[in-house]
Amino acid sequence: MKKITVIIFLSICCLLAFQVKYRDFQPGQVWEDDLGLHINAHGGGFLIQEDTYYWFGEHKVEGAEGNKAQVGVGVYSSKDLFNWKNEGIALEVHDDPNSLLIKGCVIERPKVIYNEKTKKFVMWFHHELKDRGYEAAMTGLAVSDNVTGPYSYIKSVNPHAGIWPTNYPDSLKSLPVDLDKFERPSPEWKEAVVNGVFLRRDFEKGQMARDMTLFVDDDGKAYHFHSSENNQTLHVAELTEDYMDFTGNYTRVLPGQQNEAPAIFKKDGKYYMFSSGLTGWNPNPGKSAVADHPLGPWTPLGNMVRGTEDEMKTTFWSQSTAVIPVIGKKDAFIYVGDRWVPENPIDGRYIWLPIEFENKRPVLRWRDSWDLSFFDN
Ligand code: GAL
Repeated sequence: MKKITVIIFLSICCLLAFQVKYRDFQPGQVWEDDLGLHINAHGGGFLIQEDTYYWFGEHKVEGAEGNKAQVGVGVYSSKDLFNWKNEGIALEVHDDPNSLLIKGCVIERPKVIYNEKTKKFVMWFHHELKDRGYEAAMTGLAVSDNVTGPYSYIKSVNPHAGIWPTNYPDSLKSLPVDLDKFERPSPEWKEAVVNGVFLRRDFEKGQMARDMTLFVDDDGKAYHFHSSENNQTLHVAELTEDYMDFTGNYTRVLPGQQNEAPAIFKKDGKYYMFSSGLTGWNPNPGKSAVADHPLGPWTPLGNMVRGTEDEMKTTFWSQSTAVIPVIGKKDAFIYVGDRWVPENPIDGRYIWLPIEFENKRPVLRWRDSWDLSFFDN
């Protein structure tokens, strides 16, 4: 090879290497993995194992059908949070008509936690059954010995059949399930919702569990947060020691306040939650809340967005999915949101922003690009 050819070849290599090497976050831009593909892990959840971050998320495909699970749950790994290695599909859907995990079902917001005692990686996700829209409102469980999978599907459930939340007063338990009585929306309807009309409706068969997240506390106890009661009320549920079931200890959180997309983190002994309202794939004003215990009571802290009116109304055109604690940095937390593109979901973007604290409240401000030195100030 001539010298000039070698130089051109090396320059192209350097250019390519430079292109995939990220040194900052660019919220809302195409974000390529090590294969040069836009990262495909929507409604993501993050797990830290030693010095490595794992990003699990909904693997979408092109076109509106891409909103359903055609492939499964994808997983990526990274040591620096900027550059992500494609680790393939962690949980696969398949063609077995007898399995609830059949292609065309809905798998959303997968979250993985590691159980120190059983040495298993435990994945929970929002699961809707094929051809049944969003009516099943189940949470699914899968498990693996390896962080990147393959995960084996175990079951999907409507949790807490026949069990009342610990903070549900006896006086409400015998009220009727008189759903047809009220005009929707109306103050009477709202009151019935706050008083748990949907909770009572689902008492026998088990509760609804849609948008969800998991949180493992410092004592190793894990909690499953999910939108329940027709998305009107969050439920926070303690998981069993092996994280593979519900203990039956659960609470209703912010009744009737319509929270979806919960994302939890802990700072200085307090628990913080980001969430959204209910507008499907369209963005809405973000919300935040604080508690002294995952099971609550939770106190609303209002919209966490600091910015223009439009940014406040749309949470920077995003919906929360997770908060990542940065390895080795104190009080360094990253908000992770999805900018959904329902007509071509594979093109959905990721909005990562540093969390700032002001007057003991977590707040977010837009940045076109930023890096982890933000937290050194
Ligand atoms: C959103 C929810 C998403 C997805 C979507 C479907 O409200 O947060 O995870 O379920 O609705 O319309």
